[in-house]
Amino acid sequence: MTANLQWTPDPRELADLELLLSGAFHPLTGFLGHDDLHEVEERGTLADGTPWPAPVTLRVPEAKQGDRVTLLDPEGVPLAVLTVAETGHDDLVAGPVETLGAAEHGPFAGLRRHPAEVREELAGRPALAVTMRGLLDDLSTQEIMAVAEELDGVVLLLPLAYGEGGPAVVRAALKAREKLPEDTIVVSVPLAPRDDQEIDLELREHVAAAYGAAEHLAGPEPVTLPGPPHRRGVVVFFTGLSGSGKSTIARGLRDALLELGTRTVTYLDGDVVRHLLSKGLTFSKADRDLNIRRIGFVAAEAARHGGLAICAPIAPYAATREEVRALVESVGADFLLVHVSTPLEECERRDRKGLYAKARAGEIPEFTGISDPYEEPEDADLVIDTTHLSIGAAVTRVMDTLRSGGWVR
Ligand code: ADX
Repeated sequence: MTANLQWTPDPRELADLELLLSGAFHPLTGFLGHDDLHEVEERGTLADGTPWPAPVTLRVPEAKQGDRVTLLDPEGVPLAVLTVAETGHDDLVAGPVETLGAAEHGPFAGLRRHPAEVREELAGRPALAVTMRGLLDDLSTQEIMAVAEELDGVVLLLPLAYGEGGPAVVRAALKAREKLPEDTIVVSVPLAPRDDQEIDLELREHVAAAYGAAEHLAGPEPVTLPGPPHRRGVVVFFTGLSGSGKSTIARGLRDALLELGTRTVTYLDGDVVRHLLSKGLTFSKADRDLNIRRIGFVAAEAARHGGLAICAPIAPYAATREEVRALVESVGADFLLVHVSTPLEECERRDRKGLYAKARAGEIPEFTGISDPYEEPEDADLVIDTTHLSIGAAVTRVMDTLRSGGWVR
């Protein structure tokens, strides 16, 4: 029995899918299977000997041979249908993809043109393709002019717009076009970078050739300039037991930052979040994880725009905290984990909300530290035990960390 499945590939896979559908990965028409992948790795060719430098793969859990899988974008728009010709280890699936003709969206959608259309526009004129992941400096612009003149051809700028920095690369290409001949063409290509530089370069050559280029130049590699830390987004993430003092320190930190007035502050305290953003969630592992992911999502959005977000949930699970760190770093912001390590005995002795007594009496199930785990962080940037430390002193320690890292001046 074959099935009709739906699946949302990850961003890399979606980028590759777009290139498969547009013809930019010519001669590929689908995701590669075992034999092709083996030859690609061993020899840089497909199983039939056609040169091809890089694996192009997709993972779909639970798919079986013969299944038709509708591939969706993250908003649920159906993009293509994959007919599963083969399944492999780790949920790998191979087979041809057919477009469902969904309108392309995203920034610069109008510049994501198909190779066939561009080749038609070139009408046989030789083209010099320049693939770029960063800015073109004056030197490269001069080189491009010289090569294009020698070729007596058209310049085809191919910004490889993938991920967070994608739009900036396309803007750089449009800017560069102003200094290049008038008939210069700009096409945005969502080619995700490959780890191996040589393979990446070869793949760029294949894509350039698909667009009809007679010659290919690789633009300079991007110089990543994360910007000064006092302008960069940062998430200060407190974790610790209930009653450890994290909310109080977090609030003190927020107030100190507002008094200084040099940074915008988003404040996401655990108890506050559970009144709206995470209202209705329980304290099961799944719900706690969802709660932390929601907090992380909002914090990352604030940090994406250079904001400073303060989070203060218990966040008992290490893997979930790591997920938030990765998410925050993926938007180009920094993540500071502050472990408020006040021991359980002290938290229970204080028992400001009377919850520990209830938990001991069995009235609150799954209570962190009593009947539910707390995984001590091993990656904390700062550890604060409030047993013998005043709140003011604790806030000062966090502020000092922010100052010494340059996040606050
Ligand atoms: S988390 O585990 O999902 O990170 P969160 O910080 O949102 O927890 O909420 C913790 C607060 O909820 C505690 O400070 C306490 O006031 C309250 N609470 C109610 N039930 C529990 C429970 N079973 N375990 C821990 N905290 C609880």
